[in-house]
Amino acid sequence: MDEPVIVVTRRWPEPVERELLRRYPEVRLNVEDAPLGFDGLRAALLEADVVLPTVTDRLPAEMFDGELRTRFLGNFGVGFNHIDTVAAAKAGIVVTNTPGVLTAATADAAMTLLLMAARRAGEGEREVRAGAWTGWRPTHLLGTDVTGKTIGIIGMGRIGTAVARRAHFGFDMPVVYYDVSEHAEGHGIPGARRAASIEEVLEAADVVSLHMPGSDENTHLIDAARLARMKPTAFLINTARGDIVDHAALVEALRAGTIAGCGLDVFEGEPTIPDGLLELDNVVALPHLGSATIETRTAMGMLVLDNLEAFLAGREPSCRVV
Ligand code: DGY
Repeated sequence: MDEPVIVVTRRWPEPVERELLRRYPEVRLNVEDAPLGFDGLRAALLEADVVLPTVTDRLPAEMFDGELRTRFLGNFGVGFNHIDTVAAAKAGIVVTNTPGVLTAATADAAMTLLLMAARRAGEGEREVRAGAWTGWRPTHLLGTDVTGKTIGIIGMGRIGTAVARRAHFGFDMPVVYYDVSEHAEGHGIPGARRAASIEEVLEAADVVSLHMPGSDENTHLIDAARLARMKPTAFLINTARGDIVDHAALVEALRAGTIAGCGLDVFEGEPTIPDGLLELDNVVALPHLGSATIETRTAMGMLVLDNLEAFLAGREPSCRVV
């Protein structure tokens, strides 16, 4: 390949864009930062050797039909369920992602949601901003203790393990977890119990935190029946992918008091928020901020560049997905 034409689908942190421009002369940045949409992405696949997408770029199978110029898709993010990787591989495209560098930031975001939901921090903040706070009183906005309560982790990969460690070592929380993989054992958390089923975690935990990847199999994994297995005093935290949770069932469970509350960083159909959710005080909602720190987003971008460099040099990219 001569100088590769590289399309970056969204704005990236400035140091990463600068580095990209320093290394490669034919970089097309998305200065407006508006999602390219189907047509824009299709044009990129037809005209560029390299496309660097994010979670907001849906790349379904039909996107990969016919003769494409693109040979490398370097996803800015660890989750890649927005890309039909089977179709990409069939089209001869190498796909990479950014695991590892966002583990701590995403685990911190899960802990933020856990504490906000249990301590009613969103409600309190809204009250202060509305000028509705009338002063301290013994019964004002009473939340739930977190320390010593049981945390249930569904998906004990890198991020699930990091959340479990924070909860256990920081807040004395016993850990119960479920993972489909038999290898999810190296967590180093004393007393952590591996459950035989998701239901077992839901029944045992005071806080359930979701950390499995988005996929067809995991869509609506947490549905009405599973929400009903949780304690009425328990909280659900989701920093993974929105469609893992059936949001209509979640709204129903929150209204009915089937569970006590939830903390969500991701939503089915985001950025649209599912109906009914924002009317509920026991919902804490963040706009997909899991990895949103300067350090982490910069590291994610640099990892994409490392993978791209390896690919262009004919080496195996370290974060190859297909
Ligand atoms: C990730 O890295 O998967 C984040 O959710 C953004 O895509």
